[in-house]
Amino acid sequence: MTTALAAMLTMTTMSGQPKLRADNIDEVMAAMTLEEKAQLLVGGGNDGFVGSGAMLGHQKKLVAGAAGTTVEIPRLGIPATVMCDGPAGVHIDAHRDNDPKTYYATGFPIGTCLASTWNTELVEQVGRAIGNETLEYGCDVILGPGLNLHRNPLCGRNFEYYSEDPIVTGLIGTAVVKGIQSQGVGVSIKHYAVNSQETARTKVDERLSARALRELYLKGFEMTVRGANPWTVMSSYNKVNGVYAQGDKDLLTTILRDEWGFNGIVMTDWIGKRADLPVRQEVEAGNDLLMPGYPAQVEDIVADVKAGRLDIKWVDQNVRRMLEYIVKTPRFKGHQSGKPDLDAHAQVTRQSSTEGMVLLKNETLGMSNEQMAAPVLPMRNLKTVALFGVNSYDFFSGGLGSGCVNVPYVVDMVQGLKNVGVSTTPLLTEIYQNYVKYAKAKLKADKNPMMWFLDQGQPKLDEIEISERCVAHEVKEADAAIITIGRQAGEGMDRRIDGEFNLTKMEQDMIFRVSDQFHAQGKPVIVIINSGSVMETCSWRDRVDAILCAWQPGEEGGNSVADVLTGKANPSGKLTMTWPVAAADHPSTKNFPQDYDMYSYREMQGWDSGIPNESFTNHEEGIYVGYRYFDTYQKPVAYPFGYGLSYTTFAFSKPAVKVNGEGATISVTVKNTGAVAGKEVAQVYVTAPKGELDKPVHELKTFAKTRLLQPGESQTLTMQVAVRDLASFDEANSQWKTEAGQYTFSIGSSSRDIHCTVSAKVAEYTEKVNRVKEAK
Ligand code: BGC
Repeated sequence: MTTALAAMLTMTTMSGQPKLRADNIDEVMAAMTLEEKAQLLVGGGNDGFVGSGAMLGHQKKLVAGAAGTTVEIPRLGIPATVMCDGPAGVHIDAHRDNDPKTYYATGFPIGTCLASTWNTELVEQVGRAIGNETLEYGCDVILGPGLNLHRNPLCGRNFEYYSEDPIVTGLIGTAVVKGIQSQGVGVSIKHYAVNSQETARTKVDERLSARALRELYLKGFEMTVRGANPWTVMSSYNKVNGVYAQGDKDLLTTILRDEWGFNGIVMTDWIGKRADLPVRQEVEAGNDLLMPGYPAQVEDIVADVKAGRLDIKWVDQNVRRMLEYIVKTPRFKGHQSGKPDLDAHAQVTRQSSTEGMVLLKNETLGMSNEQMAAPVLPMRNLKTVALFGVNSYDFFSGGLGSGCVNVPYVVDMVQGLKNVGVSTTPLLTEIYQNYVKYAKAKLKADKNPMMWFLDQGQPKLDEIEISERCVAHEVKEADAAIITIGRQAGEGMDRRIDGEFNLTKMEQDMIFRVSDQFHAQGKPVIVIINSGSVMETCSWRDRVDAILCAWQPGEEGGNSVADVLTGKANPSGKLTMTWPVAAADHPSTKNFPQDYDMYSYREMQGWDSGIPNESFTNHEEGIYVGYRYFDTYQKPVAYPFGYGLSYTTFAFSKPAVKVNGEGATISVTVKNTGAVAGKEVAQVYVTAPKGELDKPVHELKTFAKTRLLQPGESQTLTMQVAVRDLASFDEANSQWKTEAGQYTFSIGSSSRDIHCTVSAKVAEYTEKVNRVKEAK
């Protein structure tokens, strides 16, 4: 380094204050007052959007509509940094005061849809596009991805999360984070931890075994921290085994930092001071940043340090981490915001939404002579369809709450079909389109306070009744019927069984009436599920010929559905969660909130209910979540974990497995044995030998997806499972343990469609961890 440059680097301002650089953090800290340190640990405030008892972020200071900021300290060259919501794209306002430009962000598929691609390369590409929009729209961190598990299908925020399985969560999470952070911005993996229900989310105590906690609920976070080095982690509102996650040193320091090596910052989910959680406990626990931030929290930190209740060393520790974070940010580095390429990103979202859609059913018309006739999809010669269901015309691109995105447009079913040359019957289209316009305007005009989320996504409009006469008219004009069943859910609310998990009476009547009349004329009926989460299907699926689960696939949804229906794309999505026959089949349903309305009422009254699943939730099912339960106890399901149909067929070779001290390497060759090009996922399920620890019958340990294979083409997939990932958590000895013995590696196209197995001897492996977070 030249003397001149060295002199420049140690330069302070005229007034003698150091200005922050990546290499002078000590110097800047030495110059900070206690008040400045406290300010840096508390966010820059919220312009006020009060949601469901907790705050959705909204501020106007630097980037309108972003969720929050850190504070600036100009005297020391410390800029404010900006956090915007995600995870399905950048959540900011599309319009800014006195600015004619627009700031729409691309609506990518919701987490569930993205994970259903089982394609980590594609997901990483989506991450790069999201990261680029975060950067170009002037934000430093995007608040996502959401890594909570689908413990139960009724959780209102399942749409933001990936799976009931921690390995899917961890591998998809790692890919997304790598993609986003490759653009020089950060993520906040959330909500750490066990935030798998929305009812009473700011108060509920999630009570579970250390084994379930470590093997299931923490595992996806652990894999993502180890595999992708996220800049930030968001601590959840709820308690875990009696302690608020936001004030829990065991979770935020012992496990996250000491065991997993996390070196970024932890921020709280958006909430203020809580009567039963002192600010000093949060600071000491390793919650570096309190969001969205209130002056009273700064005052508490200062007062507690002065009174000796809070050791300055914890403040300093967190301030240092904050400064280490700040010097990485685009805002610190002086990045000038630009305009993201929304057209290019529309192509990325379209590819991922197409690949995330799951074909649940595809049979021959009327299910006659299955050997001879082809299944109804793809419909290559389709000319005119009758489109039923209000969501055909108001297609959901995403869910409600902080996870929604202000998208430039949403391609609905009418537009998507039109773009592939298929028209919709005019009268029905006109009736529905007029109704959607009317119903949307009415919702806004009614200003119902229960509909606080009106500006936070597309609320579900009521269905309209479809009479026999209407169907009789349509069946004459259309080649096929498509019925879209939409479901909406979001932050702060869980789903009900009646009318949300299950069909409403009106929807059932619509499906039955349309099917009866269309089938009587030899015309097919296809159902599109436009939902963020699982639904009941067994009571009606026999009445229709095909079912495509399109999820909430982002702004290009209608195009992706049309591509799949007409065979332009071959579906290759697979379920990342079990679809049960009934909601009550999940063992957790009996410990899951079912009465959101009553909860809101009690909350409004300020009552502490002391009611199970509001004040506390017992995870009686332990590790038996999703397929771990259904497969071990051999319970019937509607569609198993990992399931999804294709327009082609695949054959799997006998797999090979090699085991050494590092773990297992599994390879298998997949061949396209059908007539059209397609992709297939090899899912590796492992069955452990009978040992001391009770284990599910099998567990997914890794997976890989082929490239697009032409008919007759093969690809060999090679996958790794680290030895520590074969382990279970042995509570008695507080250790990860792989018991020695013969392990079976099964390759399947779902947890219930195993093609081939291979077994290998595995040596014992143990890894001691801290004895923390045990059930009380
Ligand atoms: C949500 C978070 C979100 C934050 C900021 C909270 O209510 O739980 O997921 O990132 O608001 O908007």
